[in-house]
Amino acid sequence: MQVLVTGGAGFIGSNFVRLVVGSYSHVTVTVLDAFTYAGDRASLAGLEDRVKIVEGDVADAETVDRLVADADAVVHFAAESHNDNSLADPSPFVRTNLIGTFTLLEAVRRHDVRYHHISTDEVYGDLELDDPQRFTEATAYNPSSPYSSTKAGSDLMVRAWVRSFGVRATISNCSNNYGPRQHVEKFIPRQITNIIDGVRPKLYGDGLNVRDWIHVDDHNRAVWTILERGELGQTYLIGADGERTNKDVIEQILVAMGEDAHDYDHVTDRAGHDRRYAIDSMKLRRQLGWRPWFGNFQRGLDDTIAWYRDNESWWRPQKAAAEDRYAGQSVIGQ
Ligand code: NAD
Ligand code: DAU
Repeated sequence: MQVLVTGGAGFIGSNFVRLVVGSYSHVTVTVLDAFTYAGDRASLAGLEDRVKIVEGDVADAETVDRLVADADAVVHFAAESHNDNSLADPSPFVRTNLIGTFTLLEAVRRHDVRYHHISTDEVYGDLELDDPQRFTEATAYNPSSPYSSTKAGSDLMVRAWVRSFGVRATISNCSNNYGPRQHVEKFIPRQITNIIDGVRPKLYGDGLNVRDWIHVDDHNRAVWTILERGELGQTYLIGADGERTNKDVIEQILVAMGEDAHDYDHVTDRAGHDRRYAIDSMKLRRQLGWRPWFGNFQRGLDDTIAWYRDNESWWRPQKAAAEDRYAGQSVIGQ
């Protein structure tokens, strides 16, 4: 089986490639990645014998057509993925997330190739802190940011291509991932690497915003399950019942790293900052039998902290540029 993985040099994509190559000897993987600031060859180190890496843009129709023609399945991770960057400049988000997805959909349509679309719970907007409901597959789309609106648009195109053209596709919308090889612009690795550098962690606003954390390997096992056994045309929500406030997470990281729990700064809030995400993943659990393996957030977090301590050579080249970007985004996260 030949699987084309877009964005396979990014955080979730590279962990997906490692999982698939490590678990299934009958699968060969081609990665298509533009190697933006978020893509790193080092994330695929050691896999050179099993993985073909193509540097290219998902919005480049010629490259995409050639690679899709040779594939049995496409798993589309590639995206501009960071909300703060989308507030500073939405344009690459429109190109990659919308035009890129359109380009892939046209290619899988032409070649009748199975397609799985990776998306986010952010397409549903946010919930109040005291709302007893969680997001389900029936929740109405209501995205808040340029990032989440382009992801929402890409999901809607997939649904339309399924209905209008019979494209063999599934969609998954997952909550916040954590784990190894996540870019240091994101919340958890930013704080871990700040602490390693002796810099105080930065909490946006009051820090009571809630994110629903899932280990990246649990996300990726769910993706593989859906690719193998998901019903065509269906959407599956992926989540591991991991709701926590940002304040709790930052304090947990500080304590786990041997620091005082209150040794952090409150900084300017993100514009339009979503208050709470929460996933109900019963459909995936009931229909496809998926369960998360990382039940214990503290253990997953400890493993992640250990990974960043042990792999400074991986994250160090990103760190100064990421912090410079924050410094340039005048009202966000300084
Ligand atoms: P990431 O930013 O770490 O990686 C994105 C990858 O896509 C990088 O390797 C980058 O080089 C590549 N890329 C960007 N533009 C490209 C283009 N035009 N052509 C080809 N490659 C391009 O992102 P991530 O956190 O790994 O997210 C992967 C996917 O999962 C995204 O679709 C994101 O929306 C979705 N998602 C992420 C999370 C999360 O918590 N990180 C949660 C749910 C869903
Ligand atoms: O919910 C899924 C989404 O999770 C994915 O679709 C996105 O690709 C991914 O980036 C993530 O989006 P968030 O905006 O939730 O993640 P981020 O890591 O940027 O921030 C997590 C929370 O932490 C959010 O409430 C903002 C806050 N934050 C973030 C940073 C970088 C801080 O308080 N301080 C920070 O320095």
